[in-house]
Amino acid sequence: MCGIFGYVGKQNNAAQIVLEGLRLLEYRGYDSWGIAVKSGKKLMVNKQVGKIESAKTTLSASFLGIGHTRWATHGGVTENNAHPHLDCKQEIALVHNGIVENFVALKEELIIRGHSFNSETDTEVIVHLIEEYLKKEGFASSVRDSFNRLKGLNAIVVAYAVSRQIIACKTGSSLVVGQKNSDFYIASDALGITDHTKKLFFLKDGEMVILGEKLQLISIANGKKLKANFETIHWKQEDSKIGNFNHFMEKEIYEQPRVVRTIARTADQDIISLSRTIKRARGTFFIGAGTAFHACLAGTYLFSGIAKIHVNTAVASEFNYLEDFLTKESLIIALSQSGETIDVLEPLNRAKGKGSRIVALTNVLGSSLYRLADHSLILGAGVEKAVASTKAYTAKLALLLMLAHAMNGEIKKAKKNLLETSKEIQRLLSAPSRKNIRKIALVLKSSEHIYTIGRGVSYPTALEAALKIKEVSYIHTEGLAGGELKHGTLALVEKGTPCIVFAPNDDTYEAMISNAIEIKSRGGVIIGISTKKSSVFDYFIEVRDMGWARIIAQIIPAQLLAYYLAVERGCDPDKPRNLAKSVTVK
Ligand code: G6P
Repeated sequence: MCGIFGYVGKQNNAAQIVLEGLRLLEYRGYDSWGIAVKSGKKLMVNKQVGKIESAKTTLSASFLGIGHTRWATHGGVTENNAHPHLDCKQEIALVHNGIVENFVALKEELIIRGHSFNSETDTEVIVHLIEEYLKKEGFASSVRDSFNRLKGLNAIVVAYAVSRQIIACKTGSSLVVGQKNSDFYIASDALGITDHTKKLFFLKDGEMVILGEKLQLISIANGKKLKANFETIHWKQEDSKIGNFNHFMEKEIYEQPRVVRTIARTADQDIISLSRTIKRARGTFFIGAGTAFHACLAGTYLFSGIAKIHVNTAVASEFNYLEDFLTKESLIIALSQSGETIDVLEPLNRAKGKGSRIVALTNVLGSSLYRLADHSLILGAGVEKAVASTKAYTAKLALLLMLAHAMNGEIKKAKKNLLETSKEIQRLLSAPSRKNIRKIALVLKSSEHIYTIGRGVSYPTALEAALKIKEVSYIHTEGLAGGELKHGTLALVEKGTPCIVFAPNDDTYEAMISNAIEIKSRGGVIIGISTKKSSVFDYFIEVRDMGWARIIAQIIPAQLLAYYLAVERGCDPDKPRNLAKSVTVK
């Protein structure tokens, strides 16, 4: 999984152009990176393990280059496993996003034919396969024939030492081509290209593009010529600077009062129109991955509690196995910050095939999800850079809260509630509140395990709090429904085990306090996140009663706690190990 960038044209600094492009795509993977450029009739390659942030390339002047920033799927994080991969003669360079599901069989076949492999990746088989086809046919047909033999969802970009062309193919993972006069750019998403040109062409699955003197578009299946429909995009790609903050995660946590306020003030019309779409549908499903899934689950509780309507929720990667009942009247509301998560896109494509209607709630204009959906709503959280999602989560919750109220024709109630909540978030981010949370982080920083529990609308909060803590601090944290604790996990509680208890002022309060007492009786340490202090709490974080919007307010201290735990433990909260902001493989 990764970010891909390629350039061919009249400028003689391809390596630099590719490096800058990769920097913008690093959210797709950051364990290693590499660039290949054409120099005369040779390819020059520069690969490095580590983040690309301030990396430099020493590659010489060139008019053609391809590059890659990696998130390891097959093979460890080593220079050899970093892309681009080369064939035996070092004449073909290839970068790849996806997984070649039949790579073992292809590798065996190629080894028998005398190819030797330098890496443990699935990717390397593709470049040797192209080398094999090149013995009997041209560059373009070799790439096409090779690609046709791959199983899985893949995108590749290939350069050949003796050609002034870049060839790209895709099924699944996104690729965008940009053109400015005789300069061509290709990248995993528009973000890498819009600094150069606004004239874009979004490659469709099953298409192959040849970029050189001109652009040629071909069907991968039958080799027939196709027409490339370029569009001029009008959106401005936002940038995000860290300002006075130490990390993007910290900055993004602080942006939440504004995000919630802006949604309250501006989202009415879109939300009312979406509420009508839901009313027309027969069966509505929320799907999402990771944090977005927790927002989906929150949506189910909000719809049940506020609108008295049942909405189904599924983890996006499981939706394929649940979709047998989808019809033309079904509505799927996909939540995704990036709009590029393959676990979300894949089931949507299948649902589309059944004629179901797709609505996207995404933060990224022009993303794959945005383009695939019948109707898209932009979260408006602004660029989110930290891998751990914070402001996009609260933005999704704010929109879902408005939507649930809009179903009853009471959107004004939601707006008022959100504006009050924005102030409460501000208070939770104030110096005294931060000091209290940081003190708790110091207590928890050496814990091996933390448990988080909540009931009702606070159950998704417990799950999200656990995810935030584990992904940035690497402390094992498990989120549970309050009632589930005694069905197994309580066995793990011993003297000093910390447990974060969400106990808002609602019908879950008494039961949550009982759960806290059960934990404390077994030696557990209780961190209560609640509207009121209880004698069972060893540590207390006050979140004022925000009505239904408690679902937004009460995640803020958990986000801050996760952030401080990461900082105290010396972890990089913006780029946690093994993760990527946008996961484009299954
Ligand atoms: C990755 C990120 C998570 C994110 C999830 C879904 O796993 O690390 O922070 O919640 O993808 O991302 P999406 O862009 O679809 O919301």
